[in-house]
Amino acid sequence: MNKLWGGRFENKIDLDIEIYLNSFDIDKYLFFYEIKVISAHIKSLFLCNYIDIKEKNKLLNSLFLIKNNFRKLNVEDIHSYLEIELTKYNGDLGKKIYIAKSRNDQITTLNRLMLLDEIEKINILLIFIRKSIINLSENEFNSPVPGFTHLQIAQPITLGHYLLSWNEMLKRDHINLLNCKKITNFCPIGSAALAGHNYKINRNIVKKILNFKYITENSIDAVSDRDYIVIFSQFCNILIMHLSRICEDMIIWSSNKFDFLKLSDKISSGSSIMPQKKNPDLFELIRAKTGRVYGNSINILTVLKSQALSYNKDNQEDKESLFDNIYTIKNTLNCFRKCIPILKFNKKNMYLSTLKNYSTATDMADYLVKKGLNFRDSHKIVGNCIKYCEKNNINFFNITLKELKTISNLFEKDVFYFLSIEGSIKNKNIYGSTSPNQVLKSIQRAKFFLNNIILKFK
Ligand code: ARG
Repeated sequence: MNKLWGGRFENKIDLDIEIYLNSFDIDKYLFFYEIKVISAHIKSLFLCNYIDIKEKNKLLNSLFLIKNNFRKLNVEDIHSYLEIELTKYNGDLGKKIYIAKSRNDQITTLNRLMLLDEIEKINILLIFIRKSIINLSENEFNSPVPGFTHLQIAQPITLGHYLLSWNEMLKRDHINLLNCKKITNFCPIGSAALAGHNYKINRNIVKKILNFKYITENSIDAVSDRDYIVIFSQFCNILIMHLSRICEDMIIWSSNKFDFLKLSDKISSGSSIMPQKKNPDLFELIRAKTGRVYGNSINILTVLKSQALSYNKDNQEDKESLFDNIYTIKNTLNCFRKCIPILKFNKKNMYLSTLKNYSTATDMADYLVKKGLNFRDSHKIVGNCIKYCEKNNINFFNITLKELKTISNLFEKDVFYFLSIEGSIKNKNIYGSTSPNQVLKSIQRAKFFLNNIILKFK
């Protein structure tokens, strides 16, 4: 096998061990970025007078050919691949460019460039998803649905308000992604193996050509740092956890018992034995992706733990889990994005469920507070009303004023508005709450924040 080293070796490496150490099978996926980095390096060697214009053009032309003729070679890694190809096309000139860089600063530069591109794609998916969530909540700003705590019907809310809670989760994910972009946007080229190099090359040239925002500050840290992968994996962890919660709700909502959501054929699958079945497989699978994403995060943290500074071969193990996370998250978001516009809510059932479990009992207590009673005593009185309804098998919403008066003479006719679903929802007219009026205001802010982050990504 052609190698970039070997001068001091007397014996050949064991074949199994050589294969074990090679990384070409995984880093070949970074081929495109290797070409980009080497091309920037060639331009910078020219601008700093290490090669002349003819040499530069010859090298760049050959890079173009190499890029379009990727072939399977038995090589150690993607850097060896390119060096072999450049030498094949340019003879000794190909070897001339291997100054002022090392595989150590190169590989982390490829990772960063690739990740920045992928962050951009994930950003676009998040924008799309958040826009459709906001649109949907605008349509449903006034639709009642029970809100749950402990998975028990707690209080009536608006569906629009519920959907905006998804947007909030994804808003934080979006901010985390932006932060990840900031941390990744540093160019390590020029750090070489760990100490920098002996050539007069302005590092800003390569940084600029590669479109990085900054150059890394410390060469030792630059070749050993993989924090950007950790931070990306943390972004993935929280995002997939959020999606798993959303999907869990949709699984529950689409269950026959709840029947809040009608599963569209586009996102469901059937059973091979039970002809009647339609299962929420997509939501279940998204929920399960949490396992591999959390696993990928443990992988990178463990690879990095206790590594002596600076670069170690351990870092070669950073890629599979990074690639897997990128693939999983993009694929998941792409499928999730398709669900939102086709979510079909069973609004009648949602409304009927708001009438269960004394969902406006808190409003009744608040009513008594408004009449001058303290909350603890009001709470007790409402508790007595519920006891009364249960004992006499009376629907909470059908209780008469006469009956209420037997429990407390503070009740008047106006209590029924407080008790109604509509009244309960409308009365939650406080910043960030569920009243349709507040939901419409939240939607305006949601749109504003979304536009804001779109600008920050530019
Ligand atoms: N395959 C290595 C990696 O992925 C590239 C850097 C190798 N450097 C070295 N000194 N062996 O990290």
